[in-house]
Amino acid sequence: MKDAAPRAIKLADYRPPAYLVEDVKLTFRLDPKATRVLSAIRFRRNPEGDGGPLRLDGEGLRLIRAAIDGAEVTPKVLPEELEIEAPDDFLWECEVEIAPEDNTALEGLYMSKGMYCTQCEAQGFRKITYYPDRPDVMAPFEVRVESDLPVLLSNGDKVETGEGYAVWRDPWKKPAYLFALVAGELIEVRDSFTTSEGRHVALSIWVRKGDETRCDYAMDSLKRSMKWDEEAYGRAYDLDQFSIVAVDDFNMGAMENKALNIFNARYVLASPETATDADYARIESIVAHEYFHNWTGNRITCRDWFQLCLKEGLTVFRDQIFSGDERSHAVKRIEEVHQLRARQFREDAGPLAHPVRPTSYIEINNFYTATVYEKGAEIIGMLRTLIGPEAYRKGTDLYFDRHDGQACTIEDWLQVFEDVTGRDLSQFALWYHQAGTPRVTVSHRIEAGTLVLSFRQEVPATPGQPTKQPMLIPIAVGAIGRDGTEVLPTQIVELTEAEQEAPFEIGADDAVPSVLRNFSAPVILTQEMSAEDRALLLAHDTDPFNKWEAGRQLAKTALLRMVTDGAEPDAAYLDALEPVLTDDRLDPSFRALVLGLPSDDDMAQTLADANSTPDPEAIAAARRRMSEAMARRLEAPLAELYDRLRIEGPYSPDAESAGKRSLRNAALSLLTKIDGGERARTQFAAADNMTDEVAALSALVRNGRGDDEAQAFHDRWKDDRLVMDKWFTLQVVNAPGASGAAVADRLTQHEAFDWKNPNRFRSVIGALGANHAAFHAADGSGYRLVADWLIRLDPLNPQTTARMTTMFETWTRYDADRRALAQEALERIAGAEGLSRDTSEMVTRILG
Ligand code: ARG
Ligand code: ZN
Repeated sequence: MKDAAPRAIKLADYRPPAYLVEDVKLTFRLDPKATRVLSAIRFRRNPEGDGGPLRLDGEGLRLIRAAIDGAEVTPKVLPEELEIEAPDDFLWECEVEIAPEDNTALEGLYMSKGMYCTQCEAQGFRKITYYPDRPDVMAPFEVRVESDLPVLLSNGDKVETGEGYAVWRDPWKKPAYLFALVAGELIEVRDSFTTSEGRHVALSIWVRKGDETRCDYAMDSLKRSMKWDEEAYGRAYDLDQFSIVAVDDFNMGAMENKALNIFNARYVLASPETATDADYARIESIVAHEYFHNWTGNRITCRDWFQLCLKEGLTVFRDQIFSGDERSHAVKRIEEVHQLRARQFREDAGPLAHPVRPTSYIEINNFYTATVYEKGAEIIGMLRTLIGPEAYRKGTDLYFDRHDGQACTIEDWLQVFEDVTGRDLSQFALWYHQAGTPRVTVSHRIEAGTLVLSFRQEVPATPGQPTKQPMLIPIAVGAIGRDGTEVLPTQIVELTEAEQEAPFEIGADDAVPSVLRNFSAPVILTQEMSAEDRALLLAHDTDPFNKWEAGRQLAKTALLRMVTDGAEPDAAYLDALEPVLTDDRLDPSFRALVLGLPSDDDMAQTLADANSTPDPEAIAAARRRMSEAMARRLEAPLAELYDRLRIEGPYSPDAESAGKRSLRNAALSLLTKIDGGERARTQFAAADNMTDEVAALSALVRNGRGDDEAQAFHDRWKDDRLVMDKWFTLQVVNAPGASGAAVADRLTQHEAFDWKNPNRFRSVIGALGANHAAFHAADGSGYRLVADWLIRLDPLNPQTTARMTTMFETWTRYDADRRALAQEALERIAGAEGLSRDTSEMVTRILG
């Protein structure tokens, strides 16, 4: 029998905690089956609380004993909490037993290949001991770890160590979700950093034996992040020790525990032979992200989980600018928008749409979403655009001054900017409250040397939000004259009304407006424009984002015509590509992006937006035909670039070399369509780095020619778990046509398919979601396979299961047959015996 529907938590029901915590002492006696956790916690009644008994969160704990001020007590123990009458000020002592080895959910204290580790955000600490597990309860922690294992770590600085134990103290007040503990046989890679305040910080990366040679890039990224935060935000590190630990079994990317960041190993470990350029870039940005949380998240945290974007949106924005500073802002921005559209716009357009600051949830882990993270970051970027970089910095300075040590809200965040600018940001705040991607339509006329832009904005209805108000939308605009020179440099238009006009003196009677430069707001822009005008922007726009976007729109229009009217690949589009491709003044990585076609999923969404039903096979076929036409039309320059961009000498992950490889491999991918795979086979055989090796193998697999090479790759890398994840993924993602589901099915039977490891599970089942034609195969085999595996994983690991249900979030886009098959798969998941709260919430929302 299924439990009654779990209760929704509502922002409107927020109440301050009844008790505050003065300080926490924990002792862990580690044992795989029977770890004892002893806590000694000083509680004090919160004058702002509403009285009542002491209520502590706790799940799956075996209570051994409890005492208040030294006297044993018998609290009322419920499945998810404990309750007891308590004085206003007292010492709580408690002992519980837990079994880390049986913890397959990877939340709380669990084991990964013999090593103990923790993941407490959002609500994992309650699986470790009884505690007010909410972010507005902050306290200093002292942690004693007892075990025979050689390395024993927790938050803060180590204050004592001896035979079989270590004691760590974190003087900074923190919420329990930032607690961490690690114990195991780990190798330490060391370095150091001296802060602008003169503090010498010992830096350590802890890894399993054999991985110590793959930490250099993460360490270098960490030092650059520390320096950057001092310069860009005036924030220095605040302890003598900072550690990163790499863990093989991890539900997400990484976690910012105070002074003890825990990472999915794939975002730490890199060597030229085993990691791609994309891996290096991700490592850099995730190391930065987690480090930046030290101030935006840890020193200032969230009052409640509805405020998650307060730390995540801001920290994503910070890591994005950092990566741009380290590499190229233009390229970084294009990649961000690409991701935003693929993940966040997709979410915003479907049944899972929710505001950046939601008002209700059943399982908070389901709200670590593209909307909270990526759209949350876009809001910060718009704020900075609106008030300018100086006022933005003044505002963040004030934020750190005013709120250090506090648990805050979005209102606190916006208030500092109102205070430093004197501006009313109430309309801007709608970005946090209204879900859905705004649609902006622009048209223009030119009258006597004046360009007049006419805007219309509309925010679509989303689940629970039928009507919307107009938003404050910063739109960066410029214009390019017929001769290719810029007649209007970038200006910001602030849209505030449903309809609005903006005039600009341009002193010319003809020009092409370049609207939404640098993607200044996360909106869907509609602008009627001829192919000639788009080609003019592709050739001459001074804004790199809009230059790329012009090519993108040309490609989309051409592909749409191929899908809906069976048109031939548009010759004008192909012609427009050549001058960009061969312009050596342009960054190679930018040129590689220009060569990329919109994804199948993007095309499907575009069709759905135009009220037509996407046919996954027709979309995939059009894309294939377009790629082949590109290869034929551009064969000579592609071949020339392929030969010329070969890099002599040892691999370096720097942005310039990575850019050359990305253009060269984009050329390879196209050329493989027409050269019988000759170049790719040669490159595969000769590759001395994973970027070139994976690119060559992927190109072959995509064209149904990679069987021997896939086997060779397997034999070469079968002992390397991170590289083997790539082997699984690339076969599924690149499987041609609808064959991907069969490929994935076959791979799940491979002996190395360790489905309990989240990375490996994602590398096959998750990868199927990235192969649009395969997941949406007409016979329903993709839906069925995913549903089977999610039903199997859910009892072990609800978090990863729930997250992967988003593969289905677009199911209503498709034809009646596919919808019926998807619905059947979803209902089968929904009906699974004992389905977790996590997955149940997701599937219910997706079914709508
Ligand atoms: N705070 C972490 C980060 O963004 C992610 C934690 C995700 N937690 C979760 N339950 N999904 O860096
Ligand atoms: Zn984060």
